[in-house]
Amino acid sequence: MANLLIVDDEQGMRQLLSLVFGRAGHEVRAAESGAKALEMLRGEPADLIISDVKMPDMNGIELLRAVREFLPEAAVLMMTAFATVETAREAFKLGADDFIQKPFDVDELKLIVEKALERLRLLQENRAFKRAQRERGRLDQIIGRSARMQAVYQMIETVAGVQSTVLITGESGTGKEMVARAVHNLSPRSDKPFMPINCGAFTETLLESELFGYVRGSFTGATANRKGLFEAADKGTIFLDEVGEMSPTMQVKLLRVLQERKVRPVGAHEESAFDTRVIAATNRDLAAMVKQGGFREDLFYRISVIPIELPPLRERREDIPDLVEHFTQKFCAQTGRSLHVSERTMEHLERYSWPGNVRELEHTIERAVALERADTIQPEALPQQVTNYNPTRVDPSVFDLPDEGINLVAHLEHLEKTYLLEALRRTGGNQTRAAEILHLSVRSLRHLLDKHGIRSLTAQLRSDAAGRGASEG
Ligand SMILES: Nc1ncnc2c1ncn2[C@@H]1O[C@H](COP(=O)(O)OP(=O)(O)OP(=O)(O)O)[C@@H](O)[C@H]1O
Ligand SMILES: [Mg+2]
Repeated sequence: MANLLIVDDEQGMRQLLSLVFGRAGHEVRAAESGAKALEMLRGEPADLIISDVKMPDMNGIELLRAVREFLPEAAVLMMTAFATVETAREAFKLGADDFIQKPFDVDELKLIVEKALERLRLLQENRAFKRAQRERGRLDQIIGRSARMQAVYQMIETVAGVQSTVLITGESGTGKEMVARAVHNLSPRSDKPFMPINCGAFTETLLESELFGYVRGSFTGATANRKGLFEAADKGTIFLDEVGEMSPTMQVKLLRVLQERKVRPVGAHEESAFDTRVIAATNRDLAAMVKQGGFREDLFYRISVIPIELPPLRERREDIPDLVEHFTQKFCAQTGRSLHVSERTMEHLERYSWPGNVRELEHTIERAVALERADTIQPEALPQQVTNYNPTRVDPSVFDLPDEGINLVAHLEHLEKTYLLEALRRTGGNQTRAAEILHLSVRSLRHLLDKHGIRSLTAQLRSDAAGRGASEG
């Protein structure tokens, strides 16, 4: 059932049409003038408008033009007793669906209305379908079928529909900005701007005026008022990248802005409200920074309402072949070539530790595509650190002692657990073989599994592997 608006200065006509279409099951409102119609439509839009052309003050064509400014999709039927070719042409140009000569046959008008509504429904369905397709496409650009990435997609889809602040964490190059864009693109804000800003790339004063704007004359060089990103991204999303790099003073200011949902541009007396969704990202361990006093606890809680953690590439190696394929296609398409990756090359790519994550892989493939003269990418086209990589040595590029220090005991425990899990994964849960790989006795391996509470996982891995074997066989 549709929502109809009848516009006619003649009371008799309004009553007749209200009766006819009300009986047909539609919700019908009526207005006696163009101005009244606009007011009603601003309050609640209509699916279809039937308007007289000749009315005192605003005529039907003027009404149609005004309606198109804020209701581009509504169906409109014009009726008149004095049709001229010019008015008809003007009405069609403004997107009227039909032009009806008064007096008309009621049944005929009913038919015209139903046809216009049907067309509107098709249009809306088509639009919804296209939107869904676009959204699919946006998520499809994020490559990775691993369970860890599936969990990320689910989070993206879940958080896209809500307003809460999202904190995306992950090492450099894991796709934080890509995920932030996907959240925006899947959200109802997707038609509005997505404004990224790298908080680590600005001095404190510059960052403040970038984020909050400034008024003319508030400092040398401020020759005109300028909106900050919070306002520029109104109804859209602001992406605060490297949020861990903010100075303590800026942290206080940001916290206030997020609490009040108002910004005060530098040098301004008034605050202005904004409706901007905030997504923040960092490759630092913000929780650890909070403990060490480098990041405000209250701000941390405010921005990390919903956390999304992106796994490093080395923890989802099963995604490497798809990524390699994706980037090979991409760079081949750019250069109009067609290349494929040799098995040996793929083995190197799957074994390497990728401290720079997906970005490093992307650059590696770009370089290989450029270097490779023949039609197959051979290991020789890879950088030496990839081909010479030996996973049993400590990798100096992964080895990293951050400024804020690390908890060595917890870190070593974590490493131990990671090695255990990886060994079990590779052996499909076979403890004897896992113990061999780790140069341990089966007894010590079991001891360690108990210590980390991963015994039951072994059984699960084994049944997974058995299940896979069965379905493949
Ligand atoms: N899952 C993925 N599928 C396809 N491309 C990806 C994926 N993850 C990252 N990329 C690509 O890798 C590059 C780095 O991604 P992005 O800039 O989002 O990472 P980041 O986490 O923001 O890195 P940094 O912390 O260094 O800013 C981009 O070119 C991005 O398109
Ligand atoms: Mg980034």
